[in-house]
Amino acid sequence: MASGLEGVVAAETVLSHVDGERGELIVRGLPLQVLATQGFERAAILLWHGFAEADRLGPARERAFERLGQWLPTAAARTVPEAMRLALAALPDSAGAEEIAATVPVSLAGMLRARKGLMPVAPDPQQRTAADFLRMQRGAPPSAAEAAALDTYLTVVIDHGLNASTFTVRVVASTRASLAAAVGAGFAALRGPLHGGAPGPVLDMLDDIGSAERIDAWLEAALARGDRLMGFGHRVYRVRDPRADALKAALQRLAPTTPRLAFAELVERRALALLRRHRPGRALDTNVEFYAALLLDALGLPRDAMVSVFAMSRVAGWIAHALEQRRTGRIIRPASRYIGPAPAVAA
Ligand code: ACO
Repeated sequence: MASGLEGVVAAETVLSHVDGERGELIVRGLPLQVLATQGFERAAILLWHGFAEADRLGPARERAFERLGQWLPTAAARTVPEAMRLALAALPDSAGAEEIAATVPVSLAGMLRARKGLMPVAPDPQQRTAADFLRMQRGAPPSAAEAAALDTYLTVVIDHGLNASTFTVRVVASTRASLAAAVGAGFAALRGPLHGGAPGPVLDMLDDIGSAERIDAWLEAALARGDRLMGFGHRVYRVRDPRADALKAALQRLAPTTPRLAFAELVERRALALLRRHRPGRALDTNVEFYAALLLDALGLPRDAMVSVFAMSRVAGWIAHALEQRRTGRIIRPASRYIGPAPAVAA
């Protein structure tokens, strides 16, 4: 049996396809390079409806802002992902796609301000999600380059086949639970460091290595301990994750050369060389999280918020998958093979 369901086809989808051998991602018929130019709202609406429609996320952000009072006061002492869980749990079962998607940026911006003792900033429905999130979080508008960089990030990571969180969402949606319940479960799956929780640890790794002469010794010691190098390896890709290049390009548009980027590139090159030696039989390459971490860091976003910024985008993919799964009308209920003891036979 395939451990971790590797290679098992558990859904038919028109939403996205990951070609792990060729390093290609297709979303609703668009190759990643074309998708990246669409902007988050168009990509989300394309995923949900299959065609471009008016962006309704701005007004939905205003409704999400009205709900902040329900959970924000209880969130102050929580970690950011815990507070985000509360925000998603506060959604009514009747919440639709726009309402759920708009909740993530409004809630995240509100909680990042609340933990500094600052009042939340109301959304501006005329703004696009990326610019409005940065404005609500900082209390001042971002530069056009910063808004563009975050928009590229949100667009590029919007959907990615049957990854762990998307599969989770489809399982919950298949039971006919609400969209909000399915998305809450998806967020729980995203949080782990083997999935969407890697950017913080990527930055911790770069900080801990600290200087060029320490790179090899640090990486070798980590591999010798059996640790995984964060930002490398993927269940499906056997070549470089194409999203890594899209995010690196976005980062370079934001700040062409920084000592941080030069150092990260050096670490990346050494990590790839050591991983090849460490696992000669398994192609391990750079995944999306390595440059996602650097991009989100360059935007001044705190490490403990990065998985929630990921959710701000991926929520659109989750919703599309939940709707698609529901249309099949069939519950996902696989089998397990019992390997426990046989029942004792009474004498
Ligand atoms: N560092 C060191 N060794 C690794 C790494 C890594 N980053 N990735 C895989 N390996 C090793 C594994 O230990 C495994 O060896 P084992 O069989 O002795 O345990 C071997 O390579 C083969 O692993 P795979 O089958 O290719 O990995 P799998 O599909 O199970 O896991 C995963 C994929 C979870 C992404 C893994 O590569 C990993 O842990 N990477 C680091 C965490 C990370 O970057 N997460 C973000 C992923 S991207 C995303 O989800 C958005």
